[in-house]
Amino acid sequence: MNDGGERQFGPLGKALVIIPTYNEAENIKPIVTRLRAAVPEADILVADDNSPDGTGKIADTIAADDSAVQVLHREGKEGLGAAYLAGFRWGIEHGYDVLVEMDADGSHQPEELPRLLTALKGADLVLGSRWMPGGRVVNWPKHREMLSRGGSTYSRLLLNVPIRDVTGGFRAFRKETLEELDLDQVSSQGYCFQVDLARRAVEAGCHVVEVPITFVEREIGDSKMSRDIVVEALWRVTAWGLGSRADRLLGRKPS
Ligand code: GDD
Ligand code: MN
Repeated sequence: MNDGGERQFGPLGKALVIIPTYNEAENIKPIVTRLRAAVPEADILVADDNSPDGTGKIADTIAADDSAVQVLHREGKEGLGAAYLAGFRWGIEHGYDVLVEMDADGSHQPEELPRLLTALKGADLVLGSRWMPGGRVVNWPKHREMLSRGGSTYSRLLLNVPIRDVTGGFRAFRKETLEELDLDQVSSQGYCFQVDLARRAVEAGCHVVEVPITFVEREIGDSKMSRDIVVEALWRVTAWGLGSRADRLLGRKPS
């Protein structure tokens, strides 16, 4: 990892928190309320994939009462990756300088966001990390913890990225960081989108900082984690790892 040593980082500017939603009808209002209280200076973009439970409509009523909240309505469920990519583009087009990723279900605590933003003053990308000293997970079944820890370790070793929580989804990017990452080339759909962006940032020489977070498992609604998401992550991470090893062997620039 680039240690950021001599680098000067510019001021943060205006932040947009992107919250992707799929069937989060009971969660969206409480999370927006908490976020507005914890970080009143940040704006919010809800990126909803036409949730059958009406999350998008609820988000519209919140937005109607609060000009800091906007809603990006997408046609259907295309995965977390596509929703974030659309959200990043929207945010950059609308002049935001910092783009934050945060889940809608309360797992990422808005009250911890100020610590991520403070760390971003000296970084290109800040990752909220469960798997470092001070980080933890509350209420996860053992099998889910093993999947996440295993996925992070596998990705770290195969991709050679010095990050302890590579799959986490509570993150703050500087706009310039996203602009460097060739987002048009990103095709990851599920949660491996997070691994994809982290490895791209490391390869681009970005200064990536992990900050410990407490991840609290949702109380309401269901996780969208599925077998397909795990399978996609496994094959993509393996292909990236083998691809970059081949590039190095053949002296090619990483693709
Ligand atoms: N728009 C949209 N489209 N949103 C989605 C989709 C989708 O296809 N799939 C999931 N989401 C939203 C959910 O509504 C929620 O706000 C957030 O993405 C996270 O989804 P969860 O289903 O709650 O994820 P999780 O708790 O199982 O997984 C957590 O751990 C993963 C692995 O570490 C999250 O923190 C993920 O970000 C993380 O990659
Ligand atoms: Mn969740």
